[in-house]
Amino acid sequence: MRVLVTGAAGMVGRHLIRYLCKVGHQVIPVDLMKHEGIISTDLRDEPSVFRLVKVYNPDLILHLAALTNLNFCEQNKEASRATNYGITEALTRACSKYQVRLIFLSSDYVFGKYDHVWQEIDLPCPTTQYGMDKAASEYLIRDSLSDYAIVRTAQLYGFHGDFVSLVCDALTTRQKFTAFANLVNCPTWIGDLFAMLHMIILRSSQGIFHCVGPEAVSRYQYACEVAEVFALDKSLIKAVNLDFLVDIRPPIVRLSGACTYNSLRFYPGSLKDNLSCCSAYVIQLKRQ
Ligand SMILES: NC(=O)c1ccc[n+]([C@@H]2O[C@H](COP(=O)([O-])OP(=O)(O)OC[C@H]3O[C@@H](n4cnc5c(N)ncnc54)[C@H](OP(=O)(O)O)[C@@H]3O)[C@@H](O)[C@H]2O)c1
Repeated sequence: MRVLVTGAAGMVGRHLIRYLCKVGHQVIPVDLMKHEGIISTDLRDEPSVFRLVKVYNPDLILHLAALTNLNFCEQNKEASRATNYGITEALTRACSKYQVRLIFLSSDYVFGKYDHVWQEIDLPCPTTQYGMDKAASEYLIRDSLSDYAIVRTAQLYGFHGDFVSLVCDALTTRQKFTAFANLVNCPTWIGDLFAMLHMIILRSSQGIFHCVGPEAVSRYQYACEVAEVFALDKSLIKAVNLDFLVDIRPPIVRLSGACTYNSLRFYPGSLKDNLSCCSAYVIQLKRQ
């Protein structure tokens, strides 16, 4: 399948394009800045989006491009809207015109106003500009397209620079690590996300999917789990509480993945099981 990936140079995109090539897709990678092997386009510009879709004629667009810094989005609402909703708008129009399927990578932060175990059918209740733009994109796609999937994911790990590597970096060098005891969501292994995405692609699955890990944990519990799996000194981890009058992240966002797991017949591993898949860089750190 010819898959056009937006945000291909981002943290997730870089790994996703390698995965898609490995499982046999022909990938057309697109991002804002110039990177080797990646088509550089500002996707906020609708004529450029139409040109791209016309010229490369993809079977599917996997839309990842976004401004992902929550604080930046909050302080620059128009810029956030222009990217996080504006690109979706341009892509949706192009998909509609050229009859292309769209898969949109959304976020658990379309929820957060209340503590609840959120299902795929629940109405979004975002608390941030980023969450609002993601929710508005979801509504637009649902209202405008007949061939789409919306994939909500959360707190991804399995690459350098993720939470797991931050914990390992600190503990292997005997530094204290402070972790929030009152900030909760569902850590998701990138390998599980990609496997679920692959199934959604192959089966042309339609609708909303919660491609998240099966456990909701606080950052403190998460850090302790990392220490246990990699036999690092847990006593260096200190639990602290985040002040939500200052921090804009929603405190507790628990997504239920049960319906998605059952419909895809795919059951992601536990945090403990999956953490061992991140062992390569931990072993590397221990050797230093
Ligand atoms: N990482 C997670 O834990 C997580 C969790 C839930 C959902 N998601 C979603 O997954 C997707 C990928 O996340 P990520 O962590 O890989 O984010 P990322 O590293 O910030 O990647 C996003 C990419 O989009 C590009 N982009 C921004 N504006 C663009 C524009 N106008 N035209 C073309 N490209 C543009 C960015 O380029 P620049 O860097 O040059 O701006 C960047 O390379 C996002 O949609 C995010 O909301 C991620």
